[in-house]
Amino acid sequence: MNITTYLTEEEIANAATAEIIEAVRRNPKTVLGLSTGNSPMRVYEMLIQDHKTNGTSYKDVITFNLDEYVGLDGASEQSYRYFMDKFLFKHIDIEPTNTHVPSGIGNLTENCESYEKLIKAVGGIDIQLIGIGTNGHIAFNEPGTPFDSKTHIAVLSIETIAANSKYFESEEAIPKQAVSMGIQSIMDAKRIIMVAFGKSKAKPIAGMVNGPITTALPASILQKHPNVSVLLDKEAASLL
Ligand code: GLP
Repeated sequence: MNITTYLTEEEIANAATAEIIEAVRRNPKTVLGLSTGNSPMRVYEMLIQDHKTNGTSYKDVITFNLDEYVGLDGASEQSYRYFMDKFLFKHIDIEPTNTHVPSGIGNLTENCESYEKLIKAVGGIDIQLIGIGTNGHIAFNEPGTPFDSKTHIAVLSIETIAANSKYFESEEAIPKQAVSMGIQSIMDAKRIIMVAFGKSKAKPIAGMVNGPITTALPASILQKHPNVSVLLDKEAASLL
């Protein structure tokens, strides 16, 4: 695991953005794994800015998002599909059909299987951008999720419901399940970039980096990935 501590969120985003842009320029058919939440927001803003200023093209780029809430379709403002369209896809020249977010509606078991097949069919994910939950989850792989899990229906933990309910009207309104790439699906990415900032991430980051590899802290499995960079600010790195 390659850990770098930066002074600000801005510097973290700069580093992640620079790597993604370089990869896309080197290989216009790069397969990107993307995530939602607060952590990657600035990266998306910077990618858009670069696209507009320098013309980096995403015409042949393919993306796969980590997860989606069960029961929400892309018209719902809280869905991750809506988030990705609003904060990234609409502003760059990517083909909408090349952007994949798991579907949280319809036949969920089939959705999970076809998502895995689709990732395989394009040769796997080149760079996966991820954040970390306050309990050490990655995507919606909560503590206890098997390390060999593939895309599946995940049940949100009480902690995650509390942390993510700020995006919903109430805790009752937040879906309690999600379709999520599994831990194995994430580990299969050729390269992983984790971005984390703020003091709420200090504990899970310390466990992920220095703790035992345990399903109790899903992100700890990243210790076994051969090509992970973790980009932190001082607060997120404060317990290392
Ligand atoms: C959600 C997402 C994760 C994300 C996490 C942290 O639960 N499923 O993919 O990493 O939240 O979100 P944030 O970046 O807002 O702290």
